[in-house]
Amino acid sequence: MTSPGFRTIFEPFRIHSVEPMRMTTRQQRHDAVTQAGYNLFKVHAADVLIDLLTDSGTGAMSRDQWAAIQHGDESYAGSPSYYVFRDAVRELFPFEHVIPTHQGRAAERIIFSVLGGAGKVVPNNTHFDTTRANVEYTGAQAVDLVIAEARDPHADHPFKGNMDVAALDALLTERGADVPVVFMTITNNSGGGQPVSLANLHAVREVCDAHGKLLFLDACRFAENAWFIREREPGQADRDAADIVREMASLADGMTMSAKKDPMGNIGGWLAMNDDELAGACRNLLILTEGFPTYGGLAGRDLEALAQGLREVVNHDYLRYRIRSTAYLGEALQRAGVPILTPVGGHAVYLDARSLLPHIPPLEYPGQALAVALYETGGVRSCEIGTVMFGRHPDGTEVPASLELVRLAIPRRTYTQSHMDFVIEVCEDVARRAGELTGFRIVDEAPALRHFTAVFEPIG
Ligand code: F0G
Repeated sequence: MTSPGFRTIFEPFRIHSVEPMRMTTRQQRHDAVTQAGYNLFKVHAADVLIDLLTDSGTGAMSRDQWAAIQHGDESYAGSPSYYVFRDAVRELFPFEHVIPTHQGRAAERIIFSVLGGAGKVVPNNTHFDTTRANVEYTGAQAVDLVIAEARDPHADHPFKGNMDVAALDALLTERGADVPVVFMTITNNSGGGQPVSLANLHAVREVCDAHGKLLFLDACRFAENAWFIREREPGQADRDAADIVREMASLADGMTMSAKKDPMGNIGGWLAMNDDELAGACRNLLILTEGFPTYGGLAGRDLEALAQGLREVVNHDYLRYRIRSTAYLGEALQRAGVPILTPVGGHAVYLDARSLLPHIPPLEYPGQALAVALYETGGVRSCEIGTVMFGRHPDGTEVPASLELVRLAIPRRTYTQSHMDFVIEVCEDVARRAGELTGFRIVDEAPALRHFTAVFEPIG
C-alpha cells in the first residue's frame, strides 16, 4: 500500500495478535542442525528464528478469516461451508466441478492417478517436486518445457515462467497420443517463482486445442502471477487482478491448487475442472482417501477460512505490498553483492549457490552448504532447490540439477521489514565467508522426494 504523495510502500495491515520469537545461540543452532543430520526439514521450528523454508501454510490469517472459522459447519455431507468455499473458488475460477482436497499434492495424486500411468508423458513449464513425484509415481514421465531464459539465473525476461510453446508443439506432434494433459505452473515455483504471461497462456491454449489436449493450471500463486501480468504485460495495467485471474482460468480445462499459498490458508487445496466424466473419476478416488466430496479432507471451518482468503488475496494494496516486499529483499541482496536469481519472483528470493560457491561441486550440494550456513549463522531457515531436490532420477542415477538455488520463501503477512533487514545481514555475513564453506555427502536417502528426509555429513 502507498499513501498518496509518499514513496514508502508499507504492510497494508496492523498487527492484532503476536507470536514470540525465540533467540538461540550459534552453538545451540550448530547442535540442532548436527542432530538433524544437516537437514533443515528435521530442525525443530522452535529452534528457528526466521522461517523462510516455505510460504506454504505459514502465512498469517486475517481477523476476517478467523471470524469466518466461527461459521464453519461440520456436516459430513452438503455442509453450507462447502458452498461458501465453492462459490468463492468459482468467483475466480469458474469451473463446473470444485473438489476440495486437504492440500495440493492430494489433488495431484488424484488427477495423475486418473490421467497418468506407464508410457504417459506430462509436460509442464516446470513441475514442482510433489507434482513431478506424483506424475512419476504412476509410471508416467514428467517433462519440463520452460523457455530457455529460465535456465539462466541471470537472464532478464519479464515472464521467465513461460512455456516454450514450440517445444510443446513438437512434443505433442511426436508423442501426442501419450500426453493426457498439459500443465502450467503459475507462478513457476521451481523456476524461481517466475510469472507466466497471458500471451503465453493463450499460445499454450492454442497448441493444446490444435492437438486436442486438456490444459490444467497448477495455480497455487495465481494472484501473484496476475499482479505481475498487471505490472509487466502490455495493455494490462488498468485491469482488476481478479479479472486477470478469471482470464487465466478461462484458458484452462481445470486446475490443481494448494490453498496454503495465495488462498491464505494454513491447510487446504482443491481440484477443479469442467469435464463431468473426469470429475466423476476424481471424486471416486477422493472418497477413497480424502473424504466426502463436500469436504475432501478439510474441516468446514477450513473451507470458510479459504473462501475469505480468496477474497483478500486479490486486493491490490495487498498484492502491491506483497510483490514489492519480496523485491525489497532481492534488491538489498543484489546491492550487497549476494548472487540471486533475477528478476526477483513473487513469493521468494532465490540465492544462486552455484555462483556464490563455485568451489563446491554440484554433487557436494552447494545449495545445502549455503542453507546450513544461513541457519547456523542467524537462525534463518531456507530450502535447497537444486541437486539435493532434483538430482536423483527414477532410474537411480544422480545428475546435477540445472540450477543450484537456495530459496528464501516469504510467508504471507507474517514478517516485517525489520525481520527482512536482519535476513539481509545474515546473508551478507555468510557471503563474506563463502570461501570457507564446504560441501556435504548424503549418507541416507528415501527413494523419492529425498530432500525431506536425507541425512547429510559434512565433507572436510
Ligand atoms: N504445486 C506447487 C507449484 C507448489 O509450490 C506446491 C507446494 C504444490 C504444488 C504442492 O502443494 O504442499 O499443498 O501439497 N509448494 C510448497 C513450497 C510446499 O514450499 O513451495 P501442497
